Amino acid sequence: MKTYYIKTFGCQMNVADSNLMQAHFESLGMVQAKDLSDADTVVVNTCTVRDHAEHTAMSYVGRLKPFKNDNPNLKVILAGCAAQRVGENIKKRFPIIDLVVGAKNIENFKKEFNKICELDSCFRGNDNKRAGDDSRHGKNEGKNRGKGNVCDFVTIMRGCENFCSYCIVPSVRGPELSRPFDEILSEIETRVKLGAKDITLLGQNVNSYRGADKHGKKQDFASLLTKVNSVKGLDRIRFMTSHPKDLGQKLIKTIAGLEKVCEHIHLPLQSGSDRILKAMNRNYKTSDYLKIIDTIRKEMPAAAITTDIMVGFPGETKKDFEKTLAVTDRASYDFIFAFKYSPRPGTKAAELKDRVSLKTKEGRHAILLEKLNKADENLNRKLIGSAQEVLVEGAADGKYFGKTRTNKKVYFSSGRIKPGSLVKVKILQAKFN
Ligand code: SAH
Ligand code: SF4
Ligand code: F3S
Repeated sequence: MKTYYIKTFGCQMNVADSNLMQAHFESLGMVQAKDLSDADTVVVNTCTVRDHAEHTAMSYVGRLKPFKNDNPNLKVILAGCAAQRVGENIKKRFPIIDLVVGAKNIENFKKEFNKICELDSCFRGNDNKRAGDDSRHGKNEGKNRGKGNVCDFVTIMRGCENFCSYCIVPSVRGPELSRPFDEILSEIETRVKLGAKDITLLGQNVNSYRGADKHGKKQDFASLLTKVNSVKGLDRIRFMTSHPKDLGQKLIKTIAGLEKVCEHIHLPLQSGSDRILKAMNRNYKTSDYLKIIDTIRKEMPAAAITTDIMVGFPGETKKDFEKTLAVTDRASYDFIFAFKYSPRPGTKAAELKDRVSLKTKEGRHAILLEKLNKADENLNRKLIGSAQEVLVEGAADGKYFGKTRTNKKVYFSSGRIKPGSLVKVKILQAKFN
């Protein structure tokens, strides 16, 4: 039996795409390799959001050379966002690559993979499961993914056209495209039948979802959430990412009123300085952002709010950074994903001259992390003594683990219990990330 190994870098959009590729491999009768040395096909699904992310993925490709030397039939596939950016040219740097499938081309993965299989006699003669016969894979994304995950992801939109001036995503993933409403619902129902209890709806800006239903009527994100909330057997709904320019009062009220939608909002701030937000082309001001935070706190008092913040955008002064720190204090985040600005080729910001030195970026990054650790410790300590609803995901090192509705990981001891169960756990101790 042929084996595959998928290494995924980057965000949940890439995880969802890796799941699609996995579904295709399994529909061909291939099985997951235990490790790299056991694989007949390796996929490196890459990210290019920052230079470092692309570099990490490409170094991984470099390390595959000895495996190809040991097994010349090994197929190496470069997929994802960095693959989209670099294109076929990358084969000059890494001749071991058999196939480049960029993020925009993922829909054609089956066709492209089948092509390289047909060139290789080793993949032929696999009777009715031979390459090209993919009748088990319907048009729904990931529909036939064999295994069920307790926590699963469903892509509701692809691409992005917000063109934040620093961001390469619109160019490597293409324009925003909402998947049809009923197709998403039927995929969710399938995932739930396979065992999913907690589903995250994915998109670069889910609040701007506009997908046609089977009657051709456009439905928005609030109606999608309302419909998903009625799927039987599903316990929890999450979504990522929200863009502050599209998270209105009405949507927050809908979210607060749906019992399966979890009390966790990821709301990227990027910067607390209006001048920098404008240069980033984010289309909101700090005051708009804080109004949203206030509405969330009012409508969902238990909500955990997390964010993305970037330091060292061109022209960011000490004053701008201090404004970011002030918003951070006011928003009282449960978690901050802090990034150092990295110029990306072809983006508007990459042309700006007023670069911030690496040393300054590192200093600001460290200040944010220190703030985060303190806040995180305090917030988690507040949970000590409370009973939290935990969705059991699995067991490790003699302990069960799962997450609270607010997305905090909990480890606990218990008698035998099945993954996918909802349990109440009393919090005895708190650690910060
Ligand atoms: N669509 C989401 C996030 C996409 S990328 C949103 O609109 O927020 C995830 C995060 O990476 C971004 O929120 C941003 O903080 C960071 N990021 C994007 N481009 C970057 C760059 N060029 N340098 C550093 N961080 C970047
Ligand atoms: Fe990038 Fe902005 Fe789109 Fe997010 S909304 S993916 S940061 S362009
Ligand atoms: Fe990276 Fe592409 Fe996601 S660039 S962050 S994997 S959309």
